[in-house]
Amino acid sequence: MGYTETECQRAIADFPSLARTINGNPIAYLDGPGGTQVPESVLAAIRDSYIDRNANFDGMFQTSIDVTAAVAATRAAVADFIGADSGADIAFGANMTTLNFALSHALVRGMTPGDEVVITQLDHEANRGPWLNLAERGIVVREVTLNPGGHLELDDLVEKVNAKTRVVALGMASNSIGTVTALTQAQALCAEYGAYLVVDAVHYAAHFPLDVLSLGVDFLLCSAYKFYGPHVGILYSRKGLLDQIEPDHLRTQKSVAPYRIETGTLNHAALAGVTAAIEYIEQWGNGETRRERLVSAMAALHHYETNLARHYFAEVKDISGVSVWGPEFDASPRAPTVSITIANQTPEQVAAELAQSGLQIWHGHFYAIKVLEVLGLADSGGLLRVGVSMYNTRQEIDRLLEGIAAIANRSK
Ligand SMILES: Cc1ncc(COP(=O)(O)O)c(C=O)c1O
Repeated sequence: MGYTETECQRAIADFPSLARTINGNPIAYLDGPGGTQVPESVLAAIRDSYIDRNANFDGMFQTSIDVTAAVAATRAAVADFIGADSGADIAFGANMTTLNFALSHALVRGMTPGDEVVITQLDHEANRGPWLNLAERGIVVREVTLNPGGHLELDDLVEKVNAKTRVVALGMASNSIGTVTALTQAQALCAEYGAYLVVDAVHYAAHFPLDVLSLGVDFLLCSAYKFYGPHVGILYSRKGLLDQIEPDHLRTQKSVAPYRIETGTLNHAALAGVTAAIEYIEQWGNGETRRERLVSAMAALHHYETNLARHYFAEVKDISGVSVWGPEFDASPRAPTVSITIANQTPEQVAAELAQSGLQIWHGHFYAIKVLEVLGLADSGGLLRVGVSMYNTRQEIDRLLEGIAAIANRSK
């Protein structure tokens, strides 16, 4: 089964928030990279969790037995979504940023002053800040350079990884300009020097089928609210690895994976929503197993979203006064996330004006502030970012293009 406009119309009916209007116009959520909308089945799963399983883990009574099983089922669903072996490799937390801080605290315990960590200029601060903070502990933090075309300089990565490197922290897809970075080189360098490869797949997981085992990563993070679920952070650890590191933890906490890095009580209701979000995605694919259906669904959604984003990219770049930032749509993988600036207008002004007609579009730095500093956009209000999700339509993109053309013409 493919995913075309027909399937998209069916999906739209599943998302209650899409029924809203703003000033008489249908709302258009083009802010998926900041967080996607949720289908009715996710809302129902969260509600049911509070009614049927509102208890803590490992009690002998029914609701506790049920919630323990439900959270294990969420781990198994996430494992299928990202291609891990089993739910034992999947830990949860409040969000990706919190889990990455927990991971950095654990990994620094195995480092000594003078050890090195490599981060990139393309990453979201959530995959920079936790590692930059290690400078306080005498760790040397090196940054891979971003070039003006919006790609990382992979030669610079080769230059910066060496025998002192303990961690390479790298994003798979940029939430600000859509660049996808292949992990092959980073993986090979980490294997050569015995460094951990920590991958931020928050933006990537929302738009591509993921296969953590074939990527050969050590740790991979993503966040369910970017793929139609609630706010839950996800940490995959290569089998056996979490048990070898020393996260912050209580002595009363289970000390084995996946619980080892999970401090306090998880958001059980949100986790039920994560299972439902994955089941929601799965229904748009084919195959014998859930994993096969998820891979096929994500490939179909990717195809649909990319066509819309490519159309937007091609049209918007021809509007006089518009500059598009980030890579072209060519044969290489790219996320359906396109950022622009308009001459003589700040992104904030443009976003505010478009919002009047129901077009919900983010402006600014999207926490990937280093990208803007490198591209010279930090002092001019950043970017206007459009992200395409499974419920967006060609009609919405055309409405947006009209709105942008009107603003750009007037601002000459
Ligand atoms: C690429 C990327 N990494 C990390 C994050 C942080 O995720 P969270 O909000 O779950 O901490 C985001 C959120 O926007 C993101 O887009």
